[in-house]
Amino acid sequence: MTHDKLPLEPLFDKIEELKPRFIDRLTRAVAIKSVSADETLRPEVAKMADFLVDELTALGFVDIQKKDLGIQPPPVNDPKLPLPPVVLARSGADSSKKTVLIYGHYDVQPALIEDGWNTDPFVLTHDTVKDILYGRGSTDDKGPVMGWLNVIEAHRQLGWELPVNIVCCFEGMEESGSVGLPELIAQEAKKYFSTVDATCISDNYWLGTRKPVLTYGLRGVHYYEIVVSGPAADLHSGIFGGMVGEPMTDLVKVMGSLVDSQGRIQIPGIAEMVAPLTDEEDKLYDPIDYSIDDLNDATGAKISLHDNKKDALKHRWRYPSLSLHGIEGGFSAPGAKTVIPARVSGKFSIRTVPNIEPRKLDQLVVDFCNEQFAKLGSVNTLKAQLIHDGNYWVSNPFNDNFTAAAKATVDVWNIEPDFTREGGSIPITLSFEQELGKDVLLLPMGRGDDGAHSINEKLDMSNYINGCKTLGAYLHYYAKQ
Ligand code: BES
Ligand code: MN
Ligand code: MN
Repeated sequence: MTHDKLPLEPLFDKIEELKPRFIDRLTRAVAIKSVSADETLRPEVAKMADFLVDELTALGFVDIQKKDLGIQPPPVNDPKLPLPPVVLARSGADSSKKTVLIYGHYDVQPALIEDGWNTDPFVLTHDTVKDILYGRGSTDDKGPVMGWLNVIEAHRQLGWELPVNIVCCFEGMEESGSVGLPELIAQEAKKYFSTVDATCISDNYWLGTRKPVLTYGLRGVHYYEIVVSGPAADLHSGIFGGMVGEPMTDLVKVMGSLVDSQGRIQIPGIAEMVAPLTDEEDKLYDPIDYSIDDLNDATGAKISLHDNKKDALKHRWRYPSLSLHGIEGGFSAPGAKTVIPARVSGKFSIRTVPNIEPRKLDQLVVDFCNEQFAKLGSVNTLKAQLIHDGNYWVSNPFNDNFTAAAKATVDVWNIEPDFTREGGSIPITLSFEQELGKDVLLLPMGRGDDGAHSINEKLDMSNYINGCKTLGAYLHYYAKQ
């Protein structure tokens, strides 16, 4: 594709010039421990919302609102735990311009240096040899959120008007299921968001490390918990072992029955709901720049379940997967404690794809857990339940929104992007599409090996700075579509 290039060099130069300020902005953002999954850190999540409000105010945004979402529903330890606010802001109200809604999340995954980080996860650390920025949220999703703010700052410093009106929607609960946000979007669809023409989300990653991508699909996710309870308190295994039924024994059996070591889900009825693969869809995988070596590099081990690119990608993009995440309540400290845990809870999730029906899936999962438990003839009790869920999303990328982003990518990176789907989930994407009735584009900043959710999460400096240029150029090209 060749296109009429817009004269965006001054913007790109300004972004280069402002690099130290942009690193500083991300440093200040990463320093705030806005971990939504940790109830004790909820004040930090609130602090991050205030940080955004201050930045947006300084950048001239107007109509800035912190939307209160009330109290977090169970299961929670603190029944009065406040949900973090959704931060709304706008820039420009020119009815002759298009309006782009920008969504991002300001919460992050938990991170402890003891998990194996080489540096403090909440201190953005610049490795000047590799030119990489390390820190929790650097790629997911503080880097991209700061990226949008950086684009606005560059325009202000150039004395350039923004080519479109912008509406920001930044949430602080994405990593914990976007609680309360779907309702807010529905409420504001005809109010705060009434003039929106398109939505852009920068919260995913390139597939590999070399080629930019534009993304038109996400898997959904259903997160479940199985609780097995027995004695009233933890017991001594020397005194009671052999005399009582042990919850942990039951839990690992039930969890072990869910999926096999080849990744095949063992719950009947799920595979039957998956949309059949058409020849046309199969061909879409051919041109994608990806290899099993890329997978091995990203995981740091040769653990691929598939021996070719297409099968691997299909299992990431268009088939469901089931992952076992952990057991709460079991003994996990160093040493050899001889305990019989009284109550253990196992956590697992299923990534969903078209055409899995959400409520039918939940029923199949809960019934299966109950059946497997019943087979054990245990004296304990089991309860399986859904904790949170988010929808899958697949769109048709042949629209103005994607075309503008493709032009922007070519200008900045000098290469045509691949069109990809993702295995991860951004549950709110479908809500924006359905409630606003407008196209959604996923325009990633980071690379496939950034280690989102993992230790040593990073963002390459070139992705941060060129990512800002791409976001900026996208707004200009979209204005002209
Ligand atoms: N940025 C990710 C979404 C993502 C993950 C995109 C992997 C592309 C690849 C997002 O912050 C995230 O982690 N989402 C959660 C959603 C869940 C908590 C409902 C996820 O996918 O686990
Ligand atoms: Mn994210
Ligand atoms: Mn995430």
